Amino acid sequence: MTATLSLPFAHEAGAIPALGFGTGAMTGGMSVEAVALALKAGYRHIDTARKYGTEGWVGEAMRASGLPRDEIFLTTKVSHENLRADDFARSVDDSLAALEVDYVDLLMVHWPNPAIALSETMPALAKAKRQGLARHIGVANFNIVLLDQAVALCPEPLVALQAEYHPYLDQAKLMAAVRRHKLVFVAYCPLARGRLFGDPVLSDIAQKRGRSVAQVALRWLVQQNVAAIPFSSKPERIADNFAVFDFTLDDDEMARISALKRADGRVANPAGRVAGGWD
Ligand SMILES: NC(=O)c1ccc[n+]([C@@H]2O[C@H](COP(=O)([O-])OP(=O)(O)OC[C@H]3O[C@@H](n4cnc5c(N)ncnc54)[C@H](OP(=O)(O)O)[C@@H]3O)[C@@H](O)[C@H]2O)c1
Repeated sequence: MTATLSLPFAHEAGAIPALGFGTGAMTGGMSVEAVALALKAGYRHIDTARKYGTEGWVGEAMRASGLPRDEIFLTTKVSHENLRADDFARSVDDSLAALEVDYVDLLMVHWPNPAIALSETMPALAKAKRQGLARHIGVANFNIVLLDQAVALCPEPLVALQAEYHPYLDQAKLMAAVRRHKLVFVAYCPLARGRLFGDPVLSDIAQKRGRSVAQVALRWLVQQNVAAIPFSSKPERIADNFAVFDFTLDDDEMARISALKRADGRVANPAGRVAGGWD
């Protein structure tokens, strides 16, 4: 069993570490120390966004770690207000300046914006890649219709879609579209912002395996070849969440966890940003 796992991009050379550290903590507690602890614990994939205001901290922790730049897979995103070509380019420049890096590994559209045409945004995203400012490109929070349009309109191949995914949220339809386009699914809020922790089924599996509920939930994602980007502000949890590569859930456990999906399982849902609604 390997200590880490990378998911290959089907479209081109490269891979994304299956466990990343999220820095957009809506639950509070995000700090430069948290990112530094994550890098120390072994995370080599860090997720940030212009909107989070955490790019400066991420850059600082990366530099303090002493790790070579090319050992860290760094994602940032352009916010929905900045999806016109000029705004997009400015936002990417601002991100690179805040991070103090020459490029990011994955640049994403953070949320779609029904008021700005994808025919303008996708070439802007591709241009950032062609300029060497991003090694890979992708989209976040796109539904199937928007994803199909984004792929068709983008002059460069997309490699990943980021969306909410955890045991309480059924993403089977979106997952099928992601696989059809040969993208990697990156799961955000993989711990449902803490809502999973009292769950009897997850607790039962965790207890039987001598694991934490968080490890079981994250392992369920990784075992589907999904990348996950949990956040924690606590040193012991940051390390605990990363230790998911030395055990395997059996088919019955995977099925029991998949059966936990619920109609009200979504935790991140800003009104009106996704034209046509979620799948
Ligand atoms: N693209 C998007 O639109 C989007 C939207 C939302 C999130 N994201 C990304 O996804 C990342 C993760 O999402 P998230 O931070 O909202 O939620 P999350 O990772 O699902 O959950 C974080 C919460 O779980 C708690 N927690 C973490 N590990 C734990 C453990 N082992 N035991 C008990 N509690 C634990 C944390 O509390 P403590 O701090 O007290 O440990 C925190 O309150 C974000 O940071 C961001 O990078 C992206």
